[in-house]
Amino acid sequence: MAATGSEKQGGKAFYVTTPIYYVNDAPHLGHAYTTVAGDVLSRWHRQRGEKVWYLTGTDEHGQKIMRTANANGVSPQEWCDKLVEEAWKPLWEHLEIANDDFIRTTQKRHTDRVQEFVQDLYDKNEIYKSSYEGPYCVGCEEYKLPGELLDGEGEYAGQKLCPIHKKPVELLQEENYFFKLSEYTEKLLAHYEANPDFIQPESARNEVVNFVKQGLQDLSISRSTFDWGIPIPWDDKHVIYVWIDALLNYATAVGYNENPEKFESTFPADVHLVGKDILRFHAIIWPAMLMANGLPLPGRIAANGWLMVGGEKMSKSNLTGIKPQDLTSHFGVDAYRWYFLRAIAFGQDGSFSWEDFSARYTSELANDYGNLASRVAAMVGKYFGGELPAATADGEAEKAIHDGLAHAVAQADRKIGDELDFQGGILAVFDFVKQVNGYITEQEPWKVAKDASAEGQARLATILYTAAESLRAVAVLLNPVMPETSQKLWDSLGAEVSLGALADQQIQEAGDWGRLPAGTTVTKGAVLFPRLEEKPTA
Ligand code: MSP
Repeated sequence: MAATGSEKQGGKAFYVTTPIYYVNDAPHLGHAYTTVAGDVLSRWHRQRGEKVWYLTGTDEHGQKIMRTANANGVSPQEWCDKLVEEAWKPLWEHLEIANDDFIRTTQKRHTDRVQEFVQDLYDKNEIYKSSYEGPYCVGCEEYKLPGELLDGEGEYAGQKLCPIHKKPVELLQEENYFFKLSEYTEKLLAHYEANPDFIQPESARNEVVNFVKQGLQDLSISRSTFDWGIPIPWDDKHVIYVWIDALLNYATAVGYNENPEKFESTFPADVHLVGKDILRFHAIIWPAMLMANGLPLPGRIAANGWLMVGGEKMSKSNLTGIKPQDLTSHFGVDAYRWYFLRAIAFGQDGSFSWEDFSARYTSELANDYGNLASRVAAMVGKYFGGELPAATADGEAEKAIHDGLAHAVAQADRKIGDELDFQGGILAVFDFVKQVNGYITEQEPWKVAKDASAEGQARLATILYTAAESLRAVAVLLNPVMPETSQKLWDSLGAEVSLGALADQQIQEAGDWGRLPAGTTVTKGAVLFPRLEEKPTA
């Protein structure tokens, strides 16, 4: 028997996570990219009528944070508190991120549970003490393999560099605790084999499988040369390696060892969204930790590509000074949310350019979508006094629109909701917008309006109903991507009154033709996408 909505509500939540971000600095475009993607995915599933849990947060321990705090003359905790409250949380609010929780790894609900988890692994004989020497990148917070290092040039001549940060690595030698990761090589390979969708996209999966096939080394999970971390419970001269601490946020935030009901109805994650730079931690170490502790594995690790600047991964050192807020103040929050998902195939790298954003904004958002919405509202106002007429003369042209909508809904739902192909899903909706524009151009309602016969008026009513009803569906389908604009359109269509809250509209029903009732009051609302001002000069 198919689950009803309420049964689904009572069952396990669709659980989506972002990486928890390092708070050594304020968030940049790259961080916002993953977080917006997660927000769109969660809103999509909420509009499927599912129970959803969307988690984000901050990664606050480790050497990188400690050094930044020291350099700024404050304690690491003070530094983290300031950054979280003044930079990270406000940006997510500004970008309309509807996360259900925000975990900070310095919270007691996290630190206590991390100690219990690690203690449990120790008791299960999964952890032993040994010494290790190797090149360490503080930017990655990771020991590197000698073979992956680059030879430094210029100011770094004669030194070995991290391939991601292009900064010198440090040679560390320590007595550490180790997790027996090597014992999971075969188990992980078997899991990847049995679950082909576990790591996405395909290129990411291949990278991980090839890496694991070479055989895994045991993993150092403690550090003793600094103390900004969670103490190893049985040996407080060591702190827990920041990645072990961080990965566990996905469990501690949903009640691991604390709230069994919450934990069982949420854990494991259905989708862990991660940048491809941190894929191995999520696709190798995290599942091995869960296996070692007898916990279930996540459904999917979905790696997004990098936003690039000048051929390099965008990072705080090469941002060219553009902050998310610089873009939202020019293009608006909704266009910002839309742009990166629309312009870059999820999983691939992509570059941002102000010119490309402006061009797409003007042609796709303002001209194709915004104009359609304002023209239709204006014509319902002009010809029918703002009262939506009924469609009584449907013909072939209308049938093509009904079919076009059904196709757009099915495509968008599969691509965004299931495949995380945000670009493909958004394009499916915008193709439909184009189709409706073409329909209006062909039907020429402004000419039909001059025909005062009953037949002419019935055609006019049918054309405008068809266009308004199409927009009703577009508002529903674009709500997860552009909530503020969709709400404006929803209000202008009078749909809030006739159909209820926009967020309650189910995706599956978006294509059911005829939901917007005739008689609804349509008003010319605010312009959805105002003309852009001149590009600000730096
Ligand atoms: N703290 C770790 C993650 C721990 S998760 C258990 C970390 N933090 S981070 O602040 O460096 O953020 C990494 C994530 O931010 C990336 O994996 C990615 O999701 C996002 N991005 C950061 N820069 C990015 C780009 N230039 N492009 C796309 N995403 C980027 O690693």
